[in-house]
Amino acid sequence: MRKRRRMRVNIMAKLVLSSLVLIALLHLCGGYKILVVFPLAGKSHHILGAGYVKHLLEAGHEVTYATPFPSNKTTDKYHEVDLSKNIEFYNKQTSKMLNLRAIINKETNIDVLAVIPDFVKMIKSMMESDKLVNFLSDPTQEFDAVIVEWLFTDVFAGIASLYNCPLIWSSSVEAHWIVLQLIHEPSNPSFNANVLSTTIPPFTFFERVANLLTMAAIKTIKYFYLQPRETAIYEEFFTPLFAKRGRQLPPYEEVVYNGTFMLTNSHSSLSQPISVPPNVKEIGGYHIDPNTKPLPANLQKIMDEAKHGVIYFSMGTNAKSKDWPESLKKDFLEVFGGLKQTVLWKFEEQLPNLPKNVHILEWAPQQSILAHPNMRLFITHGGLLSTTETVYFGVPTIVMPYGADQRVNALRAVNKGYAKMVELSYEMAGEMKVAIEEMLSNTKYSEKAKELSKLYHDRVVHPGKELVHWVEHVVRSHGALHLRSPALLLPWYQKMYLDLLALILVALYVIKVVLKLLFRKLSFKVPITEKKTN
Ligand SMILES: *[C@@H]1O[C@H](CO)[C@@H](O)[C@H](O)[C@H]1NC(C)=O
Repeated sequence: MRKRRRMRVNIMAKLVLSSLVLIALLHLCGGYKILVVFPLAGKSHHILGAGYVKHLLEAGHEVTYATPFPSNKTTDKYHEVDLSKNIEFYNKQTSKMLNLRAIINKETNIDVLAVIPDFVKMIKSMMESDKLVNFLSDPTQEFDAVIVEWLFTDVFAGIASLYNCPLIWSSSVEAHWIVLQLIHEPSNPSFNANVLSTTIPPFTFFERVANLLTMAAIKTIKYFYLQPRETAIYEEFFTPLFAKRGRQLPPYEEVVYNGTFMLTNSHSSLSQPISVPPNVKEIGGYHIDPNTKPLPANLQKIMDEAKHGVIYFSMGTNAKSKDWPESLKKDFLEVFGGLKQTVLWKFEEQLPNLPKNVHILEWAPQQSILAHPNMRLFITHGGLLSTTETVYFGVPTIVMPYGADQRVNALRAVNKGYAKMVELSYEMAGEMKVAIEEMLSNTKYSEKAKELSKLYHDRVVHPGKELVHWVEHVVRSHGALHLRSPALLLPWYQKMYLDLLALILVALYVIKVVLKLLFRKLSFKVPITEKKTN
């Protein structure tokens, strides 16, 4: 009897022990299940998405990445949803909008209004992607959080609602007013540049008015044109998906304004300080590997031996060398050939009559190049990733913006004092030469770049760590409701006290009417009393 009891106790103890071990093991290799959705087929967007994936995987989470650029290197912790179908449409769109040749030829004054219908088509085609629909159709799939890149559409918010889990927005730039209104309220246009702005604060009177009008125009287009179409797309695609899970489709507005957190690819050292609620955090630079990879041997040698320093020239991933006019290629080579410095030119074609100090790189490990101590000057298009890397490594720049947010990045860089801007044109080579000479002879630009780099690095924690922390925080707190902005609870007219204004106007009107009545009564009485005295 006693023996049997002891045996039972023994078995119990073993059971408890093994389940403890199991729990501990689960805890160790558990992590959260996170879905990262970056549907836009731009290389720079993919770099940002891959940054999330890398940091979350390193922190031990299980990550699914919906991307147009799958690596096909999945593991039991890393899965992919292949959205490569989105590339075609994106390339068609951007070849219109981000066309170097057309900009140099001054052919593109992109008519934003004309682009919007195409944009709606693009959203629809991204949602229609069969691989995405298949993936979302699996009712057994669950996630702890969904991270969605916001780019001019809110439709993808529906994915988080489908999984009934917190939605984290990723903004590829700073928290400008359009994204900020999703989890707080639009920022004040009198001192905040809008995302495609060509001016920076402090604004002149006219710039300030223009900024307000732009805001009003975007709001109007969004409200009357985009939102009804987005709602239709949302209803069309998500109704059957929710039905598969036995659920009713929640209203679009409820889904879109349900985001719990926003991580922004920005930092005050390179953009402008913006006041945001506590559920918005800047993690600009998280895509940069703190352990810079070594340069390939030949490039290392070239850079080590450049005793007058190195100039690196790259126009980013969208600008193709075939779009450069022949005459400009020749002019650039002439300018570069006349310099003492070694020039690394990222270009997809080899050029004839290459001067000895100029090297063409079809592929360039940009971060490793910028990190080299002989690096003197970076000639760039001013994309945000390049700008961030510039500040990270403290390299002065000449910026030649040609589209998207590049101009505002360039203006900010010039304004902060580490850059010069050169406009794209057939005659630009001469101007570029002057700018290069000025930047190499005047140390103020590189000093400023170094100073900003110090500001950039002076943080509590690496932005990648911060990214992981906030994602985990959102999951642990079941959607970080304690950080939710109360501004979302109020309609706009209450925030602007228009109800008070209405009340005051009504009160004034009532007072006026009452006074009038009183006055009329008095004036009736007056003649009578007058008569009496007469
Ligand atoms: C709103 O967010 C919470 C948590 O962040 C989530 O659980 C819920 O499903 C979401 N609701 C909708 C309608 O998206």
